[in-house]
Amino acid sequence: MKDILTNLVKLTNVSAQDVATLQEAAPEIQGWGPEIVALFYNTLYDYAETAKVFKPGERPDREVTLSDWYTKLLTGKIDETFWQHQWFVGLIHIKREVRNHVMMSMMSRIQIFFFEKCLENFDVAKTHRLFTAFKRITDVIAGLIAEGYFENYITAMETVLGIKRNLVNNMLVMEVDRMIKKAKPA
Ligand code: HEM
Repeated sequence: MKDILTNLVKLTNVSAQDVATLQEAAPEIQGWGPEIVALFYNTLYDYAETAKVFKPGERPDREVTLSDWYTKLLTGKIDETFWQHQWFVGLIHIKREVRNHVMMSMMSRIQIFFFEKCLENFDVAKTHRLFTAFKRITDVIAGLIAEGYFENYITAMETVLGIKRNLVNNMLVMEVDRMIKKAKPA
């Protein structure tokens, strides 16, 4: 997780200033939580492909999960434990078959909603500052969830099949070479 977090931080250029920017604005933007939660779950429950992920009666618990996630982002300590939790979400998502394209689509919805709320409430300079901070931090989160999903998936497969990562990698390289040759557009 550490190396991946380092890459995400370096390449997105997220900084402690971004965290400070969001946390200073928390009293003004925390109130957007219920609307974010409603947008998120209305979208997922209104679409059969994603509605089927949820168990009957689960919605209130899931709403609390997302609401807490938003609150922690604005008011919690953004430290190793926070990032580790985002990585862990990837593992939970494997169990519930929440694929990464679905997670990323919803992160995009949250980000654009946040942008529109900024535009509605603040001037251009503050919108720019707040939105870019939010975007960088939530992009790092999406990266951790996606990689947490991928890495944990491979690790579980290695354990189940009883084969070592190096062996899997070598076998994959050969197979991928074969697939590339087959799939190469004419
Ligand atoms: C912006 C994208 C997303 C974020 C930030 C996010 C965040 C989270 C968090 C924080 C948890 C709780 C992990 C824990 O137990 O500590 C969680 C669990 C869960 N998420 Fe996501 N999620 C995202 C996208 C989705 C999507 C798109 C779906 C469904 C299609 C989904 C379905 C679930 C389910 C069903 C659980 C519950 C797991 C359980 O406790 O059994 N999530 N997610």
